[in-house]
Amino acid sequence: MRPISQDGPPSGSGPPLEHEQVRVRRGPRSGVPVVVAVHSTVLGQAIGGCRLTGYRHWTEALDDALRLSAAMTDKCAVAGLPNGGGKTVVALPTGYVPGPAARRAILHDVADTIAELAGAYATGPDIGTGPRDMTIIAERTPYAFCRPPADGGSGDSSVHTATGVVAALRALCAAAFGSPEPAGRRLAVLGLGRVGGHLARQLAAAGADLVVTDVDPGRRALADELGATWREPEDALGCEVDVLVPAALGGILNPDTVPRLRCAAVAGPANNQLDAPATADLLHRRGILWAPDFVVSAGGIIHATAVELHHETTERAVARVRGIGDTLARILADAARTGDTPAAAAHRLARQRLDGRRLDLARP
Ligand code: PHE
Repeated sequence: MRPISQDGPPSGSGPPLEHEQVRVRRGPRSGVPVVVAVHSTVLGQAIGGCRLTGYRHWTEALDDALRLSAAMTDKCAVAGLPNGGGKTVVALPTGYVPGPAARRAILHDVADTIAELAGAYATGPDIGTGPRDMTIIAERTPYAFCRPPADGGSGDSSVHTATGVVAALRALCAAAFGSPEPAGRRLAVLGLGRVGGHLARQLAAAGADLVVTDVDPGRRALADELGATWREPEDALGCEVDVLVPAALGGILNPDTVPRLRCAAVAGPANNQLDAPATADLLHRRGILWAPDFVVSAGGIIHATAVELHHETTERAVARVRGIGDTLARILADAARTGDTPAAAAHRLARQRLDGRRLDLARP
């Protein structure tokens, strides 16, 4: 459907609503605020994970859903997928850990909200959810990726996300240091959750010299197992390393932290690493090469959609995930040629794909 005016909103001030639709509801079973944001279906069904974590106020969850779903549109477009961007965020009261019955109630509330969107959006795992939660969502709506293979899904996507990050890191190292090899390079992995844990293992196996951290001191056992140097979270950011690898929550790159960095490059799977778009310029001015998170972190969605929507083998899907390296190399080359930030070059690629599709749709 065509908007009434192509020039912007007919009235009102402030930024226009970019999202196609946003549902906010208090879960009728759980009482917990559930937000589902569909940013764009221009390229196809919107996809994006279901985040289940603590918020001081549900409006912060709404903000996150808006930002994360917009980033998913860019992520899908740059990855070349026939999908758009969406996200689910469940705002748990801070400190509240739901028991099994409450968790089921929350997931069924999420599922019913997704079902109302009638296929415009499909979810998957994200921070705070995993494949078994997708099975519970799938009890009430078919639009859930990454159920365990025994339940008919493509399973945990985090290992594939990590594989994509390694491919991206190789392209980044080639651009920054002239060799793609992680062996002998010093990398700091910030966050040893599902993706960060797989990533640290893969990088250690490739011979990287690792510094690691996590807010959970229990993860130190993995550091010991891998022979990695453990740092406290507040110290890890300023470590002298070749590459910083953010693998936890967003907002880690901001005007306070960028001046403290002592690295040549940054690339990792955490979503929304920049507090604001202008921080990409701060990094650029400091001569730090930042690989946009929405390019680096696409391995999970590439694998899940290849296997579940396009019925490809895992081997073929993993080959596609490795293609993230070529995509990033192309973006970095484009940025180097034009003098733009990699973020600007990546947004340009996303916009080309979206505009191309809009033109196709407009043709009679
Ligand atoms: N956390 C992934 C993302 O948002 C979730 C996902 C995986 C969504 C697979 C759909 C399919 O990128």
